[in-house]
Amino acid sequence: MRRGQAVGATRVKDWAGYYAKTATRPPRETVRAALAAFAAPGAAIDLGCGGGRDTVELLRRGWRVLAVDAEADAIAALAARPDLAPDDRARLETRVARFEDFAPPPADLVVSSFALPLCPPAAFRALWSRLRRALRPGGRLAVHLYGPEDSWAADPARGRGMTFHDRVAVAALLAGLTVELLREERSESVTPRGEAKHWHVWHVVAAKPV
Ligand SMILES: C[S@@+](CC[C@H](N)C(=O)[O-])C[C@H]1O[C@@H](n2cnc3c(N)ncnc32)[C@H](O)[C@@H]1O
Repeated sequence: MRRGQAVGATRVKDWAGYYAKTATRPPRETVRAALAAFAAPGAAIDLGCGGGRDTVELLRRGWRVLAVDAEADAIAALAARPDLAPDDRARLETRVARFEDFAPPPADLVVSSFALPLCPPAAFRALWSRLRRALRPGGRLAVHLYGPEDSWAADPARGRGMTFHDRVAVAALLAGLTVELLREERSESVTPRGEAKHWHVWHVVAAKPV
């Protein structure tokens, strides 16, 4: 596969600048909250891992991580990170795959930061079901979803092919799980790639009952 090519689809975005800006930033609040709730490390999936800011934290805390992204560049950059200790590297598995085709292995923690909304609506429900099924009892989802007031929802150039969830839809997704964090963010800021936007984001941590 040519460098920079996404699996299964024409490349529509250049993520390289995003990875360069974000890879060494600290892990997300959702990931820190989920990690604080586990007594011991286990097996995690980082879906849409990008530059690996969450993956690296999971590895440092002793987790085994399957890092997945559609972009071969993201996976190559993560694998080449100089700040990964040999011990961490030994617990890292990477895969270039699209959400739509991804068959998750059993996991204690599924992380997906600012990535799941990029799954097309037609594939989202099936993906979410696969992720829930993959979670072991006591396992957790630490994810972000976008709300309908996010500026990309009304932007045909950006929002087409993305999935947005209002409060009712989020509640339906989380039915049967123990919600440990559900924070609705509405804010104005500039994306790592310099685009001003209105964010409507759900920050979610939810556990599968034992
Ligand atoms: C906004 S970035 C977030 C990256 C990382 N999780 C973070 O928090 O920095 C979204 C990531 O999702 C990946 N992505 C987008 N659509 C995807 C798809 N359909 N399947 C798998 N990965 C996808 C992109 O390549 C990108 O790396």
